[in-house]
Amino acid sequence: DSITPHIFVILGASGDLAKKKIYPTIWWLFRDGLLPKNTLFVGYARSKLTLEEVRGKCESHMMVKGAEQEKLEEFWGANRYFHGSYDVRRDFEFLNQELEKLVKGNRANRIFYLALPPSVFQPVTTNIKHTCMAPRGWSRVIIEKPFGKDATSSAELSHHLASLFKEEQIYRIDHYLGKEMVQNLMSLRFGNHIFGLSWNRQSIASILISMKEPFGTGGRGGYFDEFGIIRDVMQNHLLQILCLAAMEKPCTASADDIRDEKVVSPKLLDVKVLRSMKPIDLSDVILGQYVGDPEGQGEAKEGYLDDPTVPKDSRTPTYAMAVCRINNERWDGVPFILRCGKALNERKAEVRIQYRDVPGDIFKGETKRNELVMRVQPGEAVYMKLMTKKPGMTFDLEETELDMTYSAKYQNLKLPDAYERLILDVFCGSQMHFVRTDELAEAWRIFTPLLHQIEQSNIKPIPYKFGSRGPIEADELLARNDFKYSGTYVWRKPTFM
Ligand code: BG6
Repeated sequence: DSITPHIFVILGASGDLAKKKIYPTIWWLFRDGLLPKNTLFVGYARSKLTLEEVRGKCESHMMVKGAEQEKLEEFWGANRYFHGSYDVRRDFEFLNQELEKLVKGNRANRIFYLALPPSVFQPVTTNIKHTCMAPRGWSRVIIEKPFGKDATSSAELSHHLASLFKEEQIYRIDHYLGKEMVQNLMSLRFGNHIFGLSWNRQSIASILISMKEPFGTGGRGGYFDEFGIIRDVMQNHLLQILCLAAMEKPCTASADDIRDEKVVSPKLLDVKVLRSMKPIDLSDVILGQYVGDPEGQGEAKEGYLDDPTVPKDSRTPTYAMAVCRINNERWDGVPFILRCGKALNERKAEVRIQYRDVPGDIFKGETKRNELVMRVQPGEAVYMKLMTKKPGMTFDLEETELDMTYSAKYQNLKLPDAYERLILDVFCGSQMHFVRTDELAEAWRIFTPLLHQIEQSNIKPIPYKFGSRGPIEADELLARNDFKYSGTYVWRKPTFM
């Protein structure tokens, strides 16, 4: 009900994630009136800080406009900050007393956001469970990756969480599930007869899911080196997108029905896709590590190993391509290729469905394959690459596209940030865009043997230059997996209007 107050507790309130993402997100939600009335925010961390100091750290990331000053004061007025350790029960008892005082012992719901390193997940969740659960009202816990490092460590964490909370109380964030175009995958697939009919092995040759970033690990090397690109983005963000691209149609799309045990929820279907996949084989993988480009500008001169926080002999991959295969009736024989990397030639995340060659060609082999591209970022777009007659007195073919670029189609559109949607979902109790325990276990099952093999054999990644397309060998892997890249076509963001 709308009268019950909510308390949103940020654990790790003095850290990087809190400052850059969580405080800004709750401010935008508060500013736009999207949160329930009577929501209070409580920061908790080890550092002895005043609320003013927390505010000082966050505000440069909050994009506050001149006219919003009054609202901003109201926001900070609804905030508190307490300090304490993460492993001392007494400190959490104190936190609980403060939470009680805030609502004078009345009914209130509590959300705990763990913006914390994994080393303290266990003590903090234990302390929350034993001292801080809402005595009257519900409690929910949001956690961020890494959810373990492999199947075993992830299962340990999941068991620990399951011993404390019910599945409905646990919200594992994969922020890619909060992105507009990732959420649009279901609408495009299941809202269009034309795609529904051809979304299968009869029409589709291969599917390439990419996430390319033009910057290195600069400054984050310490964290990154322990995990590598496969754990950092492939096993979570890219695999989640794969699930949405590959899963069967759910019985209904309404959040209420999905919670109802009687219908098949999208989450169950995600798990089904994963269960049809074998662990990835090393022969289906290309690994790379970037080296500096002596002719590059600024950061581009530096290779991964030049990052002072990275060990000089590190073999951690910063680029990976992996081919996944789904052994079911719809997808047998269709490679799903996941590609991700740092320090590449461009920033782009997209899903690219490549259709088969036109059978019975009458155009002397000039036709290129159709592609349906869902561009996740930057510049959300859906476009279909196709062949048309070159306009004018000729009968030649030309590669072009049917283009639905959001910035051209929707003027002044402001899309909510992924975190805004997801945090709001937690208030609403909608778990559709969060990662369930069994799904996480399946994701680790698919990647763990590969990760162990890479680490045990100390496999050397292929060097690639900062700012390049990645290792050439990856193009060969694409070609071997029925993905045709001609390089003759470049999508340009429309500039008309
Ligand atoms: C994070 C990864 O999960 O996602 C980062 O840890 C990566 O390495 C980031 O840069 C990308 O997120 P976005 O939303 O900027 O594409």
